[in-house]
Amino acid sequence: MPANMDIVKAEWRARAIAEYRSASVASEFLSWLLRLTFSSDILQASFSVVGNELDHADMTWEVYQALGATEEDPLAEITEGALVLPQAFGKPTFERVVLACLDVYCIGETLAAALFRAMQQGVAENAPKQLLDRLVEDADQHVQFGWAVIDECLDRDAKKVASLAKKHLPEYFSRAERAWGLLPDTWIEPVGPHEQRFGLIARARYKREFYQAIAEQVIPFLEDRNLQGRAAWGRRPKPKKK
Ligand SMILES: [Fe+2]
Repeated sequence: MPANMDIVKAEWRARAIAEYRSASVASEFLSWLLRLTFSSDILQASFSVVGNELDHADMTWEVYQALGATEEDPLAEITEGALVLPQAFGKPTFERVVLACLDVYCIGETLAAALFRAMQQGVAENAPKQLLDRLVEDADQHVQFGWAVIDECLDRDAKKVASLAKKHLPEYFSRAERAWGLLPDTWIEPVGPHEQRFGLIARARYKREFYQAIAEQVIPFLEDRNLQGRAAWGRRPKPKKK
């Protein structure tokens, strides 16, 4: 049985849009860091994150086309509101940096790195394989960037970072869990070995990678910085069982 190419193409189309969004929010994040005169190393790293994300968007779009898509412009459907960082809107830029960094880089990119690595394990087709090699490499770099930003924020105002983390981490954990950690009882898995060759993974694998990345990376890295990651995880609003 050949792979279901509608499912494969839909996945890479969604990923191309998500990568474009990542580029947009990375550029907004860079402008905040510039405004707050972060160290040159951080600014250069932030600049390279923007460039990586633009590369990812273009490369992912090329994979989508290599799979036979003929669509002209999938970005036309993205609304401007989806391309901005929403965290702590209207609050001082320092608070926005701390919260967006925890949410997008410390949690989001750590999960992305784990998921891309899982996708990389099963991929066999050339175009998605080359892309996944690059995505895995860059995601690790983006995670390091996130924690380096948090460390510089801690140097500037450790008390503020701790209170922001305490207040907001539970909701960020909860949102990520709803996206990656759930597997409805009624779920019928469309991804099998044939789709895996094109870089897709089953929902049960997402779930496993999610809990492992939170337990082995995000929480310990938060604890290393006295940011009470374990307590925040315990206080997250629990998803309703579907
Ligand atoms: Fe990316």
